[in-house]
Amino acid sequence: MTADLGFDGKVAIVTGAGGGLGREHALEFARRGARVVVNDLGGAVDGSGGSVTAAEAVVAEIEALGGEAVANGDSVATEAGGKAIVQSAIDAFDRVDIIVNNAGILRDKTFHKMTDAELSAVIDVHLKGAFYVTMPAWTLFREQGYGRVINTSSNSGLTGNFGQANYGAAKMGLVGFTRVLAAEGAKYNIKVNAIAPVAKTRMTEDLLGPMADTLNPEFVTPVVVYLAHESCETTGSVYSAAGGTIARYFIGLTQGTHRGADITAETVRDDWDAINDETDYIVPGGPADEFGKLMKQWNA
Ligand SMILES: NC(=O)c1ccc[n+]([C@@H]2O[C@H](COP(=O)([O-])OP(=O)(O)OC[C@H]3O[C@@H](n4cnc5c(N)ncnc54)[C@H](O)[C@@H]3O)[C@@H](O)[C@H]2O)c1
Repeated sequence: MTADLGFDGKVAIVTGAGGGLGREHALEFARRGARVVVNDLGGAVDGSGGSVTAAEAVVAEIEALGGEAVANGDSVATEAGGKAIVQSAIDAFDRVDIIVNNAGILRDKTFHKMTDAELSAVIDVHLKGAFYVTMPAWTLFREQGYGRVINTSSNSGLTGNFGQANYGAAKMGLVGFTRVLAAEGAKYNIKVNAIAPVAKTRMTEDLLGPMADTLNPEFVTPVVVYLAHESCETTGSVYSAAGGTIARYFIGLTQGTHRGADITAETVRDDWDAINDETDYIVPGGPADEFGKLMKQWNA
């Protein structure tokens, strides 16, 4: 198969690219001709510590392949860090076209034991980190009438995983972020999507059990590369990527029931099965689609 999805002239920022999934994304963008900012704080899975050597090692790998990249060791979790990451792309390559918000940490704890520090650390890196890195690039994207953002969500938020209230909320927050930015970026040719990966990395190697060896992180990268390509028109969607399987997650709305002014707690109880019935559900592209469905029900 020929590799016809090229990135010549494009500049990609991949956060948390010193290892795991981010490293695979960065290497593949570089193989396909993009110039890459390899960002990584270089800390432990829980976010403690830090060193730019992880990012530098991936830059060395890219250079060995004949690609172009620069290392950046700033944290995504502060506004200053986000600005510095985008500035390093401008300083080195004079532009930014693609952002992959991938940096992440874990502070798993059941909800009744969770501390404010465990909540804040996870929200700051995953959710606020995506804001901080994307914000300074957004103005450039609007000006140049082009941009691609890929956020890294997780089935922990989309489906709810025990012991990860902080992480699941951050990852589901990224779905809202993705959908709002998709709406705001539409007229500027800025496409914003998310992935929900499953892969064997240092973050998950103790959790995946016997399936781990089929969940190669490089099998997640192709959907990221496609979503980052200028030929991809999709925006506002979330893709599951695991072991070479790609599928779409979506938010559906059931037809439900309409009682108008006669609605009471008792009619809700009586209608419960119909309210939850998935027959003829819709997948709203935005609030207007929900209003369109309501208008039909009200006028029926
Ligand atoms: N591996 C999976 O199965 C899986 C599943 C769902 C979601 N994810 C998400 O995929 C992303 C990548 O995770 P991974 O599995 O490759 O784990 P990983 O630990 O190998 O990679 C995460 C990287 O982010 C870096 N990082 C952490 N905090 C940072 C910060 N403040 N600033 C910059 N870099 C920082 C780390 O140093 C690390 O290199 C994460 O967002 C993770 O939540 C992974």
